[in-house]
Amino acid sequence: MNKKLFLQTFGCQMNERDSEAVTGLLLGRGYESVASAEEADLVLYNTCSVRDHAEQKVFGRMGHFRKLKEKNPRVVIGIVGCMAQEHGHTFFKKNPDIDLVCGPGNLNQIPDLAEEIRETRLPRLATDRLSEEYSLEGIPHRSDKTKALVTIMTGCDHRCTYCIVPFVRGSERSRLSGNILTEMRNLAARGFKDVMLLGQNVNSYGKGLEEKIDFAGLLEKIQTAAPEIPRLRFITSHPKDAHARLFGAMKDLPMVCAHLHLPVQSGSDRILKRMKREHTAAWFIGQVEEYRSLVPQGSLTTDLIVGFPGETEKDFLETLALVERVEFDSAFIFQYSPRPGTPALKLADDVSQGEKDRRHQILLAAQRAISLKKNQALIGRTAEVLFESRSKKDAARYVGRTREFKRVVAFSQTPCVGEFHSVRIVGAADETLLGERVP
Ligand code: SAH
Ligand code: SF4
Ligand code: F3S
Repeated sequence: MNKKLFLQTFGCQMNERDSEAVTGLLLGRGYESVASAEEADLVLYNTCSVRDHAEQKVFGRMGHFRKLKEKNPRVVIGIVGCMAQEHGHTFFKKNPDIDLVCGPGNLNQIPDLAEEIRETRLPRLATDRLSEEYSLEGIPHRSDKTKALVTIMTGCDHRCTYCIVPFVRGSERSRLSGNILTEMRNLAARGFKDVMLLGQNVNSYGKGLEEKIDFAGLLEKIQTAAPEIPRLRFITSHPKDAHARLFGAMKDLPMVCAHLHLPVQSGSDRILKRMKREHTAAWFIGQVEEYRSLVPQGSLTTDLIVGFPGETEKDFLETLALVERVEFDSAFIFQYSPRPGTPALKLADDVSQGEKDRRHQILLAAQRAISLKKNQALIGRTAEVLFESRSKKDAARYVGRTREFKRVVAFSQTPCVGEFHSVRIVGAADETLLGERVP
């Protein structure tokens, strides 16, 4: 009998890859994927704890669980991933229709647990393998034909005071380079064109492994093992651990794309210290200068938090000044969200919601103007674009990315998803470039 799986993913790319691997495991056990929870025998939500907003989305789903059970009493409902690790068994109290709570380190147990639950109808909690080795090794299933995500390390040994990730993802563990290289060769053989290496802090790759290897060394090995893959990217780098050796690898290795995501969070040294980011604004600017001198065509993106506890107008203006000085290509801007169990909880969340909104808007407007200016400077140039999808708004248009990770929309008479094309940039908005395929 075919069993039907519905899996919805929240949160970051790490979760996306975890979901894809879990799907692969379940397909191997006779499941098929379905498009809605109502049709499914196994309903999974792979969740994110990073901000309250992310959690509320999942809590919002829980209202429908009763109906799912009434419709199909055999259905198994699971909350998995970061919120499962964070809230554990309290989910069973919050909602008695939940059957499975499974943390990020236990995901490979899902097929067995689902079967057990179906037999016994007893709820199961699986959150005890947080600190063990990466459990989703060697699962070849891929949801896309062109782009692939490859987790190289999980967990985080930094302790940024606002951040829940170390608590829900555990301490840093790197996968063996041999396993990563096998996966990369497999992706190359299958014709993948864009691979993104994932880790909460990819620059710590290799820490704790017996073999002597760092992240730049891993990039070199991938370049040798799977050079057929035209584009290799990575996220995320902590500024403290992103050094000239990495920028050198970006410059020298042909497959590595010239795009760096380097979250700065704040431009105020006082706030950076309270966040325990372990660097100053000036040091960050120094890193950026080094990156830009080694990789002059490289793009740079960042994450910023407004309204961290104790952030004054002066601190905020320092963030604004840093943004204007560094001129990021784009930035994700978040409002501080107090997270359970994090050190920052001891500090009062004293920036009012109105003030967080105001600072958010100001920073967003400043960044948009910078992004627009940088994109307009590309008009008239020709770029290599890898097309990734058809535009949702207009079926004659296709959406792709440049090597620098700029989003490009271009008209095409023939289907071109998965193909590289030369595109002349003819227009620019803050988040998108408009292009014309060069015949
Ligand atoms: N490991 C990555 C990113 C982790 S989470 C890194 O260190 O860069 C992604 C982003 O979410 C962070 O960069 C930060 O900007 C934001 N974030 C994390 N915790 C947050 C919180 N409690 N409130 C608001 N934003 C937060
Ligand atoms: Fe969170 Fe900081 Fe680790 Fe990033 S480096 S995951 S922000 S603790
Ligand atoms: Fe969220 Fe977990 Fe990723 S908390 S950002 S899904 S590591």
